[in-house]
Amino acid sequence: MYDLRGKTAFVTGGDSGIGFGIAQALGEAGATVVICGLVEETLREAEERLARTGEARAVTLDVRDRGAFADVADLLDRDFGGVDVLVNNAGVGFLSSAAEATFEQWDWVLDINLTGVYNGVRTFLPRMLASGRPGHIVSTASIGGLLGAPGAVYSAAKAGVIGLMESLAVELRDTDVKVSVVVPGITRTNIHHGPPPPGSAPARTPGGATEDALHAAAMDPREVGDRVLRAILDNRFYVVTHPEHRELLSRRFEAILCSVPDEEPDPRRATVERSILANPVYDDVVALAHRARS
Ligand SMILES: NC(=O)c1ccc[n+]([C@@H]2O[C@H](COP(=O)([O-])OP(=O)(O)OC[C@H]3O[C@@H](n4cnc5c(N)ncnc54)[C@H](O)[C@@H]3O)[C@@H](O)[C@H]2O)c1
Repeated sequence: MYDLRGKTAFVTGGDSGIGFGIAQALGEAGATVVICGLVEETLREAEERLARTGEARAVTLDVRDRGAFADVADLLDRDFGGVDVLVNNAGVGFLSSAAEATFEQWDWVLDINLTGVYNGVRTFLPRMLASGRPGHIVSTASIGGLLGAPGAVYSAAKAGVIGLMESLAVELRDTDVKVSVVVPGITRTNIHHGPPPPGSAPARTPGGATEDALHAAAMDPREVGDRVLRAILDNRFYVVTHPEHRELLSRRFEAILCSVPDEEPDPRRATVERSILANPVYDDVVALAHRARS
């Protein structure tokens, strides 16, 4: 089991919502927590709250800014000896349909929610590998990235995060840097009050639901944080936060499987496809789940 005591964790968007829940959980498990976000005031408040239970630092960083990312990585190398746990969590909500969104809004959502994640991976991963220490990279996607939920632009970005992390897990399988992807359902956060998109702002809640109604049924961000903590400690890849998603996910996988041509596979094609596409991370996840149950 991974031990977070004496380790340094960097959490983007760690001053609010799910990021703060993750930062709290990691801090209480013994990690020094460095958080980043956009708003100086909320960063300071979050830093102060985190410092009550452990060592914490807050820095301002826009995840779209690659130069600033490198500067933060240098600062973490200098002041903390590098990063052991990277959490790419910063993100914005955006509910417009594909037809309503503008190209500018597509770029804005993808730049923050997908490229921002890659910026974190690309900045820190070489340093984490070079350190030779065991590490972990977590990225926050969304159940929308698996279910084609309302808001095609947002779902596309989150599906991209899942794809990135599924392939990254294979690329890093034989290294000491482990990988997880978080797929939260509705969580009680400030996502409805995040930075506004360029141009006219779409509805902030799906299906005309009020924020109060959503929040009443939503998961507490600290619960998401605790689930992420467990995944890091136990090296689990998928962090599906909501048990309520089992039925919805099984419909998706059933829909995909019943779309596979009902024909005999061609043996030569099957060999080539399997040799390129078989993802051992799926086998790892299933084997770990079976071991945990037995
Ligand atoms: N709240 C939900 O229901 C829900 C569900 C699924 C996934 N998510 C995802 O969870 C993650 C966290 O969101 P949240 O719900 O906690 O919302 P939140 O608004 O409470 O927190 C978002 C954080 O991201 C930061 N952020 C936004 N744009 C940034 C940028 N360009 N650079 C740096 N930081 C930036 C904000 O400052 C804030 O700290 C997001 O990736 C979001 O898409 C949220």
